Amino acid sequence: MIVLGVESSCDETGLALYDTQRGLLAHALHSQVAMHEQYGGVVPELASRDHIRRAIPLLEQVMDKAGVTRDTIDAIAYTQGPGLAGALLVGASIACGLGLSMDKPVLGVHHLEGHLLSPLLAGERPEFPFIALLISGGHTQLMQVDGVGQYTLLGETLDDAAGEAFDKSAKLLGLGYPGGPAISRLAEFGDSDVHKLPRPMLHSKDLNFSFSGLKTAVLTLVRNQSTNICEQDKAHIARAFVDAIVEVLVAKCLAALKQTGLKRLVIAGGVGANRQLRDALNAAAQKKRFRVFYPELEFCTDNGAMIAFAGAMRLQINPDAAKRDYAFNV
Ligand code: KG4
Ligand code: ZN
Repeated sequence: MIVLGVESSCDETGLALYDTQRGLLAHALHSQVAMHEQYGGVVPELASRDHIRRAIPLLEQVMDKAGVTRDTIDAIAYTQGPGLAGALLVGASIACGLGLSMDKPVLGVHHLEGHLLSPLLAGERPEFPFIALLISGGHTQLMQVDGVGQYTLLGETLDDAAGEAFDKSAKLLGLGYPGGPAISRLAEFGDSDVHKLPRPMLHSKDLNFSFSGLKTAVLTLVRNQSTNICEQDKAHIARAFVDAIVEVLVAKCLAALKQTGLKRLVIAGGVGANRQLRDALNAAAQKKRFRVFYPELEFCTDNGAMIAFAGAMRLQINPDAAKRDYAFNV
């Protein structure tokens, strides 16, 4: 079965073809980062318009790359939500329009399920069950995953998501958008001993998170610096921020593994690309004897491959999940 995936929930247009026999056949992505950079964040109207411009050329690209014709596609999966309403509508319209013209069934996929299953696209797949830490721009959740569609929420953020904390703190330091990679790079030049930031909810005895206080603590540090804060000062603050958030994320993962007795941890979502977090998790995995799995770096952030894959997994369980009903919901 070959599934076409369409992702358009935010600022990346992603198209991909996944074959349940042969694996990922092709994927293509257009990032709108350069377009939104000048505004310091995603402008929803511009995002929707750009998805419209990019989707069909990307579709042609993946079909060419995979050597797949319209006839050999079995179903079309699109990101149903959550995300920016206008951007989602573009992806849904494209998927349903293609479905109607090609007489193929379509199915909506939950964006977070796409992220959650993305590590299964990597060479070495984790077996079920596992603990998943989903850390994206909009969500931070710890889940027990017993199989496709079998998810138990163990804990989540009570306020800001981890990616949001990265982005907002980066903005306070005058770094560009998206802030996650920028603050992570800058932190490499900072010293951990200069500032100490709070570790929110580290000892809360549950698996929830809270990151809005951390962002406020960064704001206080920035305000306490002299008016012409230099790059080195910024790097020390970036380091303190990364140290704090990484320590909390790792501690909560360890607590989730302990609570469930599971020995496999899967990291998904944009913040999963973070180098310092990966280093800390790898060290913890070695020390505490569990295995940690990540998506390929290119599939940490939004992409069409994870949507094609999640759609294919859903269809393997229930072939009726895709319908020739093109009155879509987002
Ligand atoms: O999963 P994603 O692409 O989109 C959502 O579904 O939200 O995640 C985007 C988030 C942004 O907040 C971005 O700053 C963060 O992931 N991110 C990173 C890194 N790369 C992306 N955060 C920290 N370090 C990174 N290397
Ligand atoms: Zn995402």
